[in-house]
Amino acid sequence: MNICQKSTDPILSVQGLSVDYSVKGASLPAIRKASFELRAGEAVALVGESGSGKTTTAMAIAGLLSPNARVSGGQVCYRGARLPIDDDAAMRPHRWKETSVIFQGAMNALNPVHRIVKQIAEPCMLKLGMSREEATARARELLELVGIPADRGSAYPHELSGGMRQRVMIAMALACRPSIIIGDEPTTALDVINQAQILKLLVKLRSKFNLALILITHDLSVVAETCDRVMIMYAGGIVEDGPVADIFNAPKHPYTRLLIESIPDPAKGKRVLCAIPGDPPTLLRRPSGCAFHTRCPSAMPICTTQVPELDERGQGRVACHLHSSLTHADKV
Ligand SMILES: Nc1ncnc2c1ncn2[C@@H]1O[C@H](COP(=O)(O)OP(=O)(O)OP(=O)(O)O)[C@@H](O)[C@H]1O
Ligand code: SF4
Ligand SMILES: [Mg+2]
Repeated sequence: MNICQKSTDPILSVQGLSVDYSVKGASLPAIRKASFELRAGEAVALVGESGSGKTTTAMAIAGLLSPNARVSGGQVCYRGARLPIDDDAAMRPHRWKETSVIFQGAMNALNPVHRIVKQIAEPCMLKLGMSREEATARARELLELVGIPADRGSAYPHELSGGMRQRVMIAMALACRPSIIIGDEPTTALDVINQAQILKLLVKLRSKFNLALILITHDLSVVAETCDRVMIMYAGGIVEDGPVADIFNAPKHPYTRLLIESIPDPAKGKRVLCAIPGDPPTLLRRPSGCAFHTRCPSAMPICTTQVPELDERGQGRVACHLHSSLTHADKV
């Protein structure tokens, strides 16, 4: 591993990360110069509409990009050392031991023909060098930790409810004592009650093990009680980032504002989720300048030609010409 130039203080440092997908011979940028840091024990939500690049960002960090993806720029550092994120084999010693991922559909991620206790024990043997007996004992402990009686370990995945299967995924993610957990929509496939229980479990485990958490979600309403910080993504870029309270109470980016306004609020008589007018861009159709200008109620002439920088503002960052240091004359 190479040593990164930046401070070793954050546990994870993503610097100018760019990822392209190769589609029919064309290289299409999906992530553009994403930069952020994550500290030990910190929980950050990654929020944005479908296709904004949340999963691609997370998979790049975990070194799990699809075969047609290419890291076209930037780097990811873990505790100050550069990770070989574009080399699956070189990432193996890091994955699950330092950074774990909880995927959305537990049924697809679990092996249907193996008992769950075996599936949790396997990484403990492979990564931690435990004997089968030690690993089985740890798997039973982990099941209890996520709220499943250890005796249920002899069940096959299809014998468990959706909520229980997602708990098994969390147990597997914790198996090798990682410092970072990435949850890619870990509750989306569940009913509302199970969603709440799984989020509560993640919050509890995060504080028990001082885990850093990257929680990917479409849904801003799940963020408030789970995370410290929110990063908003649009068209493959981070457009706003800040403490949860600032993002909810005083969003700076027009896209963030519209996302927050779209959340149902029964107290104000708003019971349904409202969609933001217009369609999000695709990899083949990305508007020039600020990618949000085609949908932005505050768009100015400069927005159609110039990409706004992600500048520090207060305790967060925002990429919008309304908040940039350009003079009024530059913006018209
Ligand atoms: N393997 C792939 N090949 C080509 N394009 C891809 C591939 N995977 C994702 N994309 C495209 O890259 C962009 C970002 O996708 P990504 O899955 O990261 O978005 P997302 O924010 O996670 O969306 P969702 O909320 O729907 O999960 C989208 O335009 C998507 O269509
Ligand atoms: S840069 Fe312009 S188009 Fe983009 S969000 Fe800001 S005001 Fe809207
Ligand atoms: Mg996704």
